[in-house]
Amino acid sequence: MLEQLPRPVIFAHRGASAHAPENTLPAFELAIRQNADAIELDAALCGDGQVVVFHDGSVDRTTDGQGLIKDLTLDALRELDAGSYFDESFRGVGIPTLGEVFEAVGGKTIINIEIKNYASPLDDLPEFIAKLVSHHNLADRVLFSSFNPIALNRIHKLMPDVPIGLLTVAGIGGALVRSILGGWIPHQALHPSLQNVSHKLIQNQHRRGRRVHVYTVNHPEDITRLCRWNVDGIFTDDPLLARRTIEAAQNAEDPTP
Ligand code: G3P
Ligand code: MG
Repeated sequence: MLEQLPRPVIFAHRGASAHAPENTLPAFELAIRQNADAIELDAALCGDGQVVVFHDGSVDRTTDGQGLIKDLTLDALRELDAGSYFDESFRGVGIPTLGEVFEAVGGKTIINIEIKNYASPLDDLPEFIAKLVSHHNLADRVLFSSFNPIALNRIHKLMPDVPIGLLTVAGIGGALVRSILGGWIPHQALHPSLQNVSHKLIQNQHRRGRRVHVYTVNHPEDITRLCRWNVDGIFTDDPLLARRTIEAAQNAEDPTP
C-alpha cells in the first residue's frame, strides 16, 4: 500500500487541526476536502474498553470536562464538548470512536492510526484496533504507528500486511531507539520528529528500503527543505498550506509548464 502513496504524502495531523478541532470528524472531513492524501489520528482506550480517537491522556485541554481518558466511560465522554475549545462555531462536536471515524471517512482516505497506549503499554489496544480494522474491511487503507515498540510488534503479528511506521521522539532518545530497537521492530517507514531529520538520515533509510514520514511540519521553509531532501511524507496540521508549498517547491525544481 505504501508504494501507491504519492511522494511526499501529506498526512493531516489529527485531521486538518489548524482549521478544526483536533481528532474530530469535522477535522478529518475538512482534511479530505482540503485534498490531504491521508489523515493521522490517535487511538486510545477509554475507561470501559472502547477505542476512542483522542490525543491527550486527560480531557482537560480539548474538552469542557476534566479527568483521564482511561478513567472515563464512553457514555461520559459522549457528554463532553470537544469542539468549543477550538472555536465557538464547533460547539457540540464530540470525541469520536475509532469505529465512527472508519464509518465516516474510511472509504475516502488513507488512515495512519497511532496506537496511543503509552501509559499502559501492555494493554490490549493493539488487538482492539486490529479487530476494528478487520471489521470495517480497511486493512489495505491503514497504516499503524506508535512510539511503543511492544504495540507495534503485537499488531504486526495480528495484521502482518499492514505497513508500520516507527515513531521516534525528538533528540537523543529518538536516535537511540532507531539504532538499538530499529532492527527488532518491524517497520516499513520511520516517523521521526522534525528536529531529528537530516538529509543523511533520509538517505540512510532509503538505502534500507524504508520511507521517511516526518512529524509535525507546519512551516513552509521546513516543508521546502524536506522536499529537497526527498522526504516521503509529512504530518502537518495544515494540509492546504503543505499542498501549496510542495507544489511551489516542485515547480521551482521543474519550471517547465
Ligand atoms: O504521528 C505523528 C505524531 O502524531 C506523533 O506525535 O504527539 O502528535 O501524537 P503526537
Ligand atoms: Mg499522533
